[in-house]
Amino acid sequence: MIPAALSVRRIGLLATLAGPAPRTGAGMRDLGLVRDAAVAVDRGRIAWVGPDAAFEGAVSPRPGAETIDASSAAVLPGFVDPHTHLAFAGDRDDEIRRRLAGASYREIAAEGGGIVRSVEATRAASVEELTGLVTSRLDEMLLCGTTTAEVKSGYGLETASEIRSLEAIRQAAARHPVTVVPTFLGAHEVPREHRHDRSGYVRLLVEEMIPTVVERGLAAFADVFCEEGVFTVEESRRILLAARGRGLKLRLHADELASTGGAELAGELGARSADHLVFVSRAGMEALARSSCVATLLTSATFYLRLGRFAPARALVEAGAPVALATDVNPGGGLSPSLPFAMAIACFSMGLALEEVIAAVTVNAAFSLDLQGEVGSVEVGKRADLVLLRSPRLLDLVRVGVRAIRTVVKDGRVVVRDGRLVAPSTARP
Ligand code: NIG
Ligand code: FE
Repeated sequence: MIPAALSVRRIGLLATLAGPAPRTGAGMRDLGLVRDAAVAVDRGRIAWVGPDAAFEGAVSPRPGAETIDASSAAVLPGFVDPHTHLAFAGDRDDEIRRRLAGASYREIAAEGGGIVRSVEATRAASVEELTGLVTSRLDEMLLCGTTTAEVKSGYGLETASEIRSLEAIRQAAARHPVTVVPTFLGAHEVPREHRHDRSGYVRLLVEEMIPTVVERGLAAFADVFCEEGVFTVEESRRILLAARGRGLKLRLHADELASTGGAELAGELGARSADHLVFVSRAGMEALARSSCVATLLTSATFYLRLGRFAPARALVEAGAPVALATDVNPGGGLSPSLPFAMAIACFSMGLALEEVIAAVTVNAAFSLDLQGEVGSVEVGKRADLVLLRSPRLLDLVRVGVRAIRTVVKDGRVVVRDGRLVAPSTARP
């Protein structure tokens, strides 16, 4: 008999997502569904998955073990958000209002707004303040079903502030249930003091920031905002090669506002993920498909930025690229912590199937973070991260305004119960 510290019984529909990672093409629609299922959890990991009718013959709950009755509702793997910028202070609400009146993200950035304004506020914040901000943003995400998140630095843009941001991410992660994957994004923008010496900033990244981040073990990935007016493909290649040479894995902001060849670069360098891709070229799509680099689409950010078009999600799936979704939480346009909202836009504005967007926020997002052995599916041995809905209807996830998520289990512990955080991290000393 298999011992269990926590069991979930009477699951009407269990989407296991068991099987290969990443999913591509028609494989993105295979949710590995089990009807009338149960899941047993022990030591924070999935210990048994099977038909509810077989539970009693296979599992022996430990004394005092908890059993959750799913009441015939649906259960999915905890969601994985592979692109967020949580480590910022202040806000840019004035810019968001200007965008509502018709100004574009690029116009605002060209006038001295945008990322560099968040840099001012972030440089002025202490590690403790930043840790609190990251923590409360992780709380918001957890309530929406996110149990694993990538979190980037990128509003310091000088060695000490980038290190402070990564320290804050580390400290928040140490206390928070969400599994955090830290990414160094010192190449988010050229800071004001280097505007007349771009190559000096690239040198600082390559010769000082990346080695310091690696020495201190503060990041798993490096990322660059490869974009017209930000970092060119050549600059991005140089920065990413330096990061890869020191053992960091790679991801890339690519082709968000213009087609610059970012996706091709991500494919060339073996990046794990190319993100945004609103303006990806045909060659870029093929490069992603060839290299198993995940096409990570930031659908809600595109919506809030009012870009007027979306990434070619269907063409990416049809080209054979693994597709993931992320929220892109950030002060400029990443206004929603909710992967279900990102999924709703991906379905209803971009034409992805409900099954595809579920694979995109579980198994494929996990692969993009190189965590496919740990999270992203309900399989024996993986972390016990589960999202329990209130109904058997998966479509409820994309009915914005419906509180579809009842319970969230993270590493075998109930962290959201009846739609509320069990122990709000923000209330901790
Ligand atoms: O992913 N594109 C670059 N970075 C963010 C925006 C950051 C900001 O505006 O503060 C993004 O959209
Ligand atoms: Fe981003």
